[in-house]
Amino acid sequence: MTEANGRKADYEIEPVFLERWSPRAFTGEAISETELFRLFEAARWAPSTYNSQPWRFLYARRDNPAFDKFLGLLIEMNQSWAKNAAALVFIVSKKSFTPPGQQAPIESYSYSFDTGAAWAYLAIQALKLGWATHGMGGFDYGRAPVELNLPPEHRVEMALAIGRKGDKIVLPEALQAREIPNGRFPATQFAIEGGFPKN
Ligand SMILES: Cc1cc2nc3c(=O)[nH]c(=O)nc-3n(C[C@H](O)[C@H](O)[C@H](O)COP(=O)(O)O)c2cc1C
Repeated sequence: MTEANGRKADYEIEPVFLERWSPRAFTGEAISETELFRLFEAARWAPSTYNSQPWRFLYARRDNPAFDKFLGLLIEMNQSWAKNAAALVFIVSKKSFTPPGQQAPIESYSYSFDTGAAWAYLAIQALKLGWATHGMGGFDYGRAPVELNLPPEHRVEMALAIGRKGDKIVLPEALQAREIPNGRFPATQFAIEGGFPKN
């Protein structure tokens, strides 16, 4: 059965799904704009309702002045390790879209869902290019929309650190202990034939 990173799948799968994990120790290596856009390019090809493509990626590479602003929007725990990332990204989704053949925008049922698929594509592409990704819900929900100049009808979904994985010694001690790929519930716990049982 497929194994990687000390993780074991119960069914045969592509190893990439076990290989991707979210380290916090980054080397501080920079990423070029072209390399970063290879990751966004993968996200571009994610499926979405009516092909509405509601994802937006606001990015700051570490040598750009915006990097410190982005870092300052994270909670302290995340700042303590994300400061060594090559790029910080705020993943945003647009809540409305204009369906084909219509004039007026409508609210999307699945803007967050679609954007989630796009970020997953990005994460897998990053891994394939030797970059690690780490999603963060720990950011200032009040300040982020303001400081990122969020237009109406948009939602900040998640912050994301992209970096070259480094030695855990760079981390604060408490985080060093957690620098290890984790496990999952078995698929039989969330895949249910025929719908939820009646209770
Ligand atoms: C929406 C979202 C929010 C998360 N928020 C944080 C966070 O604020 N800080 C952090 O260190 N990790 C955060 N994580 C990382 C998760 O803890 C991690 O993805 C999960 O434990 C599974 O581990 P893996 O990605 O290494 O497989 C977040 C992940 C997601 C998808």
